[in-house]
Amino acid sequence: MLYGGDYNPDQWPEVVWEEDVRLMREAGVNLVSVAIFSWSRLEPAQGRYDFAWLDRVLDLLHRGGIAVDLATGTASPPPWLVRRHPEMLPVLADGVRLHQGARQHYCPSSPAYRDAARRLAEAMATHYGDHPALAMWHVGNEYGCHVPACWCDVSAADFRAWLQGRYGTIEELNRAWGTDFWSQRYSDWEEVIPPRRTPTWPNPTQSLDFQRFSSDALLECYEAERRELLEHTPGVPITTNFMSFFKPLDYWKWAEHEDIVSNDAYPDPADPDSGLIAALNSDLMRSLARGRPWIQMEQTTNRVNWRPVNAAKPPGLMRLWCLQQVARGADGVLFFQWRQSRAGAEKWHSAMLPHGAPEHSHAWLEAKALGADLAKLDAVCGSRVGAEVAIVFDWESWWALELPSKPSGEVRQLDQLRAYYRHLFDGNVAVDFARSTDDLARYRLVLVPNLYLLSDQAAANLNAYVEAGGTLVMSFFSGMVDPDDHVRLGGYPAPFRELLGLRVEDFLPLSAGQELSVAFADGTRGTGDLWSELVTPDGAEELASFDGGVLAARPAVTRNRFGKGTAYYLATRLDSASMARLLAEAQAEAGVRPTWIGPAGVEAVRRDSPRGRFLFLLNHSEAEVEVPVAEGSDELLSGKRTASSSLTLPPRGVAILVEPGGAP
Ligand code: GAL
Ligand code: ZN
Repeated sequence: MLYGGDYNPDQWPEVVWEEDVRLMREAGVNLVSVAIFSWSRLEPAQGRYDFAWLDRVLDLLHRGGIAVDLATGTASPPPWLVRRHPEMLPVLADGVRLHQGARQHYCPSSPAYRDAARRLAEAMATHYGDHPALAMWHVGNEYGCHVPACWCDVSAADFRAWLQGRYGTIEELNRAWGTDFWSQRYSDWEEVIPPRRTPTWPNPTQSLDFQRFSSDALLECYEAERRELLEHTPGVPITTNFMSFFKPLDYWKWAEHEDIVSNDAYPDPADPDSGLIAALNSDLMRSLARGRPWIQMEQTTNRVNWRPVNAAKPPGLMRLWCLQQVARGADGVLFFQWRQSRAGAEKWHSAMLPHGAPEHSHAWLEAKALGADLAKLDAVCGSRVGAEVAIVFDWESWWALELPSKPSGEVRQLDQLRAYYRHLFDGNVAVDFARSTDDLARYRLVLVPNLYLLSDQAAANLNAYVEAGGTLVMSFFSGMVDPDDHVRLGGYPAPFRELLGLRVEDFLPLSAGQELSVAFADGTRGTGDLWSELVTPDGAEELASFDGGVLAARPAVTRNRFGKGTAYYLATRLDSASMARLLAEAQAEAGVRPTWIGPAGVEAVRRDSPRGRFLFLLNHSEAEVEVPVAEGSDELLSGKRTASSSLTLPPRGVAILVEPGGAP
């Protein structure tokens, strides 16, 4: 089990390094990410490299038995490069140029940046390829974090080249972009530009293509470095750290270019939903890794520095969230950062080793204790989390849904997703995320919180899934447009009318605070908000109807038998209790089983392998709870065997039980 953090020795005099390694060993650290922001030290002038200091760092770490996740060092370009190539600085949609003095000040399409970064990656690979401490490569850092896109002239030319690759002819671009609307027809490629600041909404397909292009432009930066690493150090695994549900980058596409998926996540401890959000982020990473183990590359031990108010983590929360990451498939847990900086913009961001004396810091004491816990979990490595439920989630649809000028600007992809996920999390039902075009046959239940944009292939895939016997739940405003963001005609939602057995005649979005009463066929009542619509059933059975108002007695929730399967449809956003009941019904129908049944506030996740089954029980509440367990099971953290059929979990406490019978 990997354990460690970002290590920035170049911020400290060399005398500190020995102490770092000594304390890392004391904490059980076995992997550190090095040189992420070291470009100006590694290459102080064009082509002049200084590796001596980093050689000493890597040698020291290696002697201490600590492996290195070595960065290519290209995340923050040095001042000399900017001085030589001022055109590499990124430009915003309104023409404002961003300057050096922070980090990530580069245009993703800049040949000057790409080439300089590629050369540094090559130099790093050549110099460190044989170093025994090198365990994996960390390319760049958090691609797109501050500058996800650039609107400069260089980017404009690159965008045109990308569009030519996608459309071939200007006529085809005109068709896809619907340029006969508002006299936008292009006669020549040179007229095409990124969606810069316009008098009103820019062309939506242009905006959508620019999001696709911008994700690809950064991927090309990553790929240029990765090609160097593959050439010089074949066999050394390559990663770049993701940022959970980061909208600008299509991580489905990116993850295909990584040997190991790794993630950075910083849920706000002041947010009552933070435990759920942390779980959601981990499930996304496991899904991007297609079920394989992944690494939590960054998180914080205590406070961050970048919120208006930076809440501290109460004792035990750091451990709880780390073990939650392991429960949800991580085989490594790292922090930003090892030693808290003394200078610079992040000196008030906490670390494993804080400013003061370590022995007086709860972060350090907890980091040490966590290292000891993780050292007991090697048997868990490589095991998998099995899910019977999938949530369909596509970046392209997210982008298109949230472009402006819609029936409601309040329908947000992640809100929709959480409205479903919450009940699976509360009910300890394991869930994967899936693309709309993935093979879904192995899932008993597929949830579609919103899929505004989809391809014909995806539509056929979801239809075929239900036809073959699957159960599906879909919410409103799905199946609206094709990949060109053109409306799918023939009655809403055109690709799903047969599947759902209904037609949507009109949308009646609700304003903030407006609620409609909903009556269920079984006599229970609930409410809907955010959205409502006029649904005419065409074979679907009505499970609930709106009660009062213009939609009185019209369907709010329906169910349709399609082929061998069943499709539910929600014409509004149900209140939480009604949603919980509806999903419970769909789960029962689909035969989905929870991982474990126990007291509320205790999360349960199972990892499975031929070597064992591990049941993680995580107490998110601030109270002690009694949980049912099998008597005589080994508990990994305490090293004890359960002596009865219940176990006491302290506030934020965790138990990891070894269950009989691993996967075959
Ligand atoms: C990440 C970044 C780190 C550090 C951290 C602070 O976004 O990769 O370098 O800035 O945030 O929370
Ligand atoms: Zn640019």
